[in-house]
Amino acid sequence: MITVRKTGAALGAEILGVDLSQPMDDATFPHIVALWHEHEVVFFRDQKLTPDQHVAFSRRFGELELHVRKDCCRPGYHELFVVSNIVVDGKPIGSQDAGLFWHSDLCYLKVPSRGSLFYALEVPHDASGKALGDTKFASATAAYNALPEDTRRKIAGLKAVQSYKKGYYRERNAGPRKPLTPEQEAKTPDVEHPIVRTHPFTGKKCLFVNEGYTASIAGMPGTEGDALLNRLIEHSTKPQFVYRHSWRVGDFLLWDNCLVQHQAITDYKLPLRRHMERTTLTGTAPF
Ligand code: OGA
Ligand code: MN
Repeated sequence: MITVRKTGAALGAEILGVDLSQPMDDATFPHIVALWHEHEVVFFRDQKLTPDQHVAFSRRFGELELHVRKDCCRPGYHELFVVSNIVVDGKPIGSQDAGLFWHSDLCYLKVPSRGSLFYALEVPHDASGKALGDTKFASATAAYNALPEDTRRKIAGLKAVQSYKKGYYRERNAGPRKPLTPEQEAKTPDVEHPIVRTHPFTGKKCLFVNEGYTASIAGMPGTEGDALLNRLIEHSTKPQFVYRHSWRVGDFLLWDNCLVQHQAITDYKLPLRRHMERTTLTGTAPF
């Protein structure tokens, strides 16, 4: 029996009564998808999943992305992108600095990701037992709905330039990343997407700009475009649109990459370990 507990924030709900390691009947899966679309972020606690089970459940949603940074994926599982500060024999087991800036996964691709399924394997804690390394989620629907009418009119039909390089090098300045290889750069040219994006399943309107990857407003160079973009970006993550998730080992959380953007909080470091794994759903072209 599924029950739902809303977080009380603008988005997010816990789904109780589901063991994701067990076969799921054909009525339960669409129910979960509908709850996800309604609440934008949903999570299940106390899950025990093998990598194969994580991938298998993710595949029910459709095709999975293989991350351009293959060195950050779990060995033998190009579908599982590892986010972790753990280093084994001098080699990081995954991306050590994913998501420092607000972003939406793969928003810089022509066809961005539909959503991401994130599983917590190790969570850092402070001396008092409080979990560290939270993730913040901001509702792009709440942000859009709260825009003044004249701003909505102004941005209707506009596109923004989304740039992997902007995001990558910005995170690189803050962390230990190597420069991109020419091959990685060739796979990630800048793209343009509507600033007001329509969610493909629910028709909800979303404000699709973010601090991490949105470089400019297409066709609006100079200070006018920059000022508008900065205003939209600043608006998009106001506290009233945000849910902050405090992780527990065994949490399995789904975020929608059109309905929300997210940001990692790095308030911990080794020897406190964090190990998360993510599958990334292939999406559809934004409109
Ligand atoms: C990601 C990401 C945030 C976090 O994996 O896409 O942004 O808190 N992670 O690790
Ligand atoms: Mn991310």
